[in-house]
Amino acid sequence: MAAVLRCMECGAEYSLGEIRYRCRCGGLLDVAHDLGSLRVSRELFEEREAGQGPEPWRRSGVWRFRELVLPVESQLIVSRPEGNTPLYRSAALARWVGLEDFSVKHEGENPTGSFKDRGMTVGITWAKALGAKAVACASTGNTAASMAAYAAMAGLKAIVFVPQGKVALGKIAQALAYGALTLEVEGDFDAAMSLVQESCRELGIYLLNSVNPFRIEGQKTIVFELIQDLGWDPPDWIVFPAGNLGNTAAFGKALWELRELGLIPRMPRLAAVQAAGANPLYRSYARGFAPLEPVRAETVATAIRIGNPVSFPRAVRSLRWTEGVVVEVTDQEIMDAKAVVDAAGIGCEPASAAAVAGARKLVSQGVIKRSERVVAVLTGNLLKDPEATVSYHAGKLQGIEPRFANRPRRIAPSLEAVAEALEEGRR
Ligand code: F0G
Repeated sequence: MAAVLRCMECGAEYSLGEIRYRCRCGGLLDVAHDLGSLRVSRELFEEREAGQGPEPWRRSGVWRFRELVLPVESQLIVSRPEGNTPLYRSAALARWVGLEDFSVKHEGENPTGSFKDRGMTVGITWAKALGAKAVACASTGNTAASMAAYAAMAGLKAIVFVPQGKVALGKIAQALAYGALTLEVEGDFDAAMSLVQESCRELGIYLLNSVNPFRIEGQKTIVFELIQDLGWDPPDWIVFPAGNLGNTAAFGKALWELRELGLIPRMPRLAAVQAAGANPLYRSYARGFAPLEPVRAETVATAIRIGNPVSFPRAVRSLRWTEGVVVEVTDQEIMDAKAVVDAAGIGCEPASAAAVAGARKLVSQGVIKRSERVVAVLTGNLLKDPEATVSYHAGKLQGIEPRFANRPRRIAPSLEAVAEALEEGRR
């Protein structure tokens, strides 16, 4: 049996080539692979990583797992190439989080600076295969930047819908530079999300938000690669920030498939971290997975400033599959964690730091044991949001105490002034 689109609610099936994002019943769709017929093994993925080769897709950390991602001809693949991101360890960071074995998988070191490239290589490849001429997404910034870049490489028209005034500088710069038609919607992300869905339906544009199941297939490879990085010995926990819940959906599906295939002996537990001001998943979780109640979102971590997450049902499924937990962290905790990640020389954007803040909180609550092995996923690059970083260090971020500030010092152009500054720095 070939892969099909399957509704996660009613099980209805559609061919992969049909352009649809939801089932007739309204349920979200999965790309369902016929796992029993796939010839995959740890050795195959190891060989591909070692073998590489000239075409970009052969050097991609997404397409290395192609059987589990998308059955498509190699010539059609649009790849930068993405993935193969580093797994960093920092003793100082581990100590701050309270763990002996803590590492961070830096998805901000993808071609456009966020994990979105993993889903976008698949989404754009499939858009091209379907013969689409234009693609669109609503975005808090990173999806827009990634889609704009991949669409430009594939020769597709890109249209991005972003919440006006709430997108970090680096991301809006990328969308404009890569040539996307950039629509600043007077409203929040959730308003942009509903407008883009209507626009795609009415205007025949291919939708590339993570409601699109092909995006999720690419994002699964964060987990595949992370487990490969660890020599196929899965960690106890994978901790990551959660906004529109695409990653929560993808990570659970990835783990479920790995276990079905016998590639891992057990599933790590997922820990989804939300900003306290944008916490609909946390609220549902705290009441035993009560139905989603959208919230009006506000947080310094604009990437996850989302009140009505599209992938909610898939996220709940992932958390149930993996005995997962959800935790919320304040903006102060996010910016503290960011300062510590940054000062370790690793660096990330605020939303990514939420993962580290969440890991620390779960350790302090005793949910994660100090002896457990934990990987946090850093989703976006430090350079995405220079304003948040500079404002923090200058002590100008509203409502945030700059506990780890590294203030710039203005000096006269003289050796005495330098000596004085060094002396001050030692104190
Ligand atoms: N971290 C970063 C840096 C993000 O950009 C996002 C989402 C998330 C975490 C949350 O991931 O949505 O899968 O739960 N950014 C989207 C965007 C919404 O438009 O770029 P999620």
